[in-house]
Formats: sequence, structure tokens, C-alpha cells
Amino acid sequence: MAEQAGPIGVFDSGYGGLTVFKEIIKELPQYDYIYLGDNARVPYGIRSFETVYQYTLECVNHLFNKGCRLIILACNTASAKALRTIQQKNLPEFKDVRRVLGVIRPTTERAGEFTRTRNIGILATNGTVASHSYPIEINKFYPDIHVFQQACPLWVPLVESNEHESDGADYFVKKYLDELMRQSPDIDTLILGCTHYPLLIEKIRKYVSPEIRIVSQADIVAKSLKNYLHRHPEIDALCSKNGTTEFFTTGSVDDFNEKASIFFGKTVTAKHQSLIND
Ligand code: DGL
Repeated sequence: MAEQAGPIGVFDSGYGGLTVFKEIIKELPQYDYIYLGDNARVPYGIRSFETVYQYTLECVNHLFNKGCRLIILACNTASAKALRTIQQKNLPEFKDVRRVLGVIRPTTERAGEFTRTRNIGILATNGTVASHSYPIEINKFYPDIHVFQQACPLWVPLVESNEHESDGADYFVKKYLDELMRQSPDIDTLILGCTHYPLLIEKIRKYVSPEIRIVSQADIVAKSLKNYLHRHPEIDALCSKNGTTEFFTTGSVDDFNEKASIFFGKTVTAKHQSLIND
């Protein structure tokens, strides 16, 4: 008997994953999708490994219960701190085929295409930086690249509170960029290793030399997913294709609907997802 197909699940700790989701839908409009934002417990970037893993696993299980067979962790912090354990420990416990993919590997696979000086700067949350996922993954593919990291703990709150275009944001954008560039004057590529940071790109451009390439991952992740589904027809067959999208938030629906449009670029109507096990 053919296995039941379901929507592709897209998960983030909050709104940031919508920047990735937007590109995924552009690249693959024919699929069904469920987006889940854990807005009740955002931010993940300041939390311990154990907490990020527990929260991410709960949300992944909610998406599985809604029929998803393939889930994208559209969150760098969850990809850095929870993905491997979920793949190695939790997925083998299911009798049927389920897949969970992240955003760090597709980004690091392509890192070598962007740099001439072989010096890359990573801008990310404290959690992603502490995990060393970016340097480890980049050096697996490109051992010659030097990777410098900078945690930007105030960038997510700036974006979450819709202050990313304010004059006040400039101070903290410049501060973290200066700290990163002090680590090496040879950095020629900056990777925005957090799904919220594309909203700060105009300000980031203002404080770095025009020769520096700024890489957002949404488009890279979307193309990588397309490629993955092409290479894995058995997983593609588990993804239903009616072009539908549903949004769920663990937080306030009104807040989500208001802010999500900033990240998604159009109006969003979400439903509430309770965190009590379903
Ligand atoms: N979405 C998270 C990321 O990409 C940032 C927000 C958070 O800290 O939860 O790392």
C-alpha cells in the first residue's frame, strides 16, 4: 500500500523562518506546507542545548502529528543544537520514513563559492556561535577557509520588536560588525547565519565595505530543498502537492498575523497551536 503523503513542515522559533519559507514557496509552489512558529518560547538563541533540543523536538512532533513526513528546521539555532540528535536518536524510533533537514548544511556547502580571500565571517545567535556548527561544517567542505564568528545577541530582539529600521538599530548593527571585522581585515564574505538577519541587510551594508559579499541563506536553502526532492523521489512521493499553506503559532495569533507579514512579505492568517501534547 502506498504510504500517506503530507505537507512539508517548516519550523522556526518564531517569525524568522518565514524569510526562508517565502523562498521555498517561490521555488516549489506546487507542494502543501505547514509553518509552525514557536513564538511563545522565542528566542532560542540564548537557551541551552538541552532546552533548544526539547523545544524543537516538541514542535517537530506536532508537525508529524499534522501529517508532515518532511520537516525543514528553518532556524539556525535549532539546526545547530537539535537537528543531529533528532536525526540520529528520534527519527529511527518511527516505523515509517520521516526526514528532518536544517539550514546550516546547505549554506556551508556553498560557502566556498562566495569568498576569494578564503576568509568568511559568520553573524549568528549566541547559541549558533557556541555550537561551532558553521566553522565545523564549512571546514568539512573547504578546509582552506578561515571562519570567524560573531554573536549578535541584540539583533533578534531589534527585529522582533520591529525596530530594525530605526536609527537606534544602527548602533548595534555597527557594534557587532566592527567586532567581527576586528578579528580579521581579510574577511570578504559575511554569512547571515540567523533567519532574522536578512531584515537588517540594508543597515549591515551601510557599515561594511562595498567589496564585502553579504550572503543570505533563504534562497540557498530553497534551491537545496528543490535539489534534495529531485535526488530523493521516495521522499518527494511523501510530500502532497495541492499548493496549500497553513500557519500555526504557539503564541498570540494576533501578534503573529501582524508581524509575520514583515518577514513573509504578504498577509498571513495563523491558527494557534497549543504546546500541550496532542
Ligand atoms: N530563528 C533563529 C535563528 O535562525 C533566531 C531567533 C531565536 O533566537 O530564536 O537562529
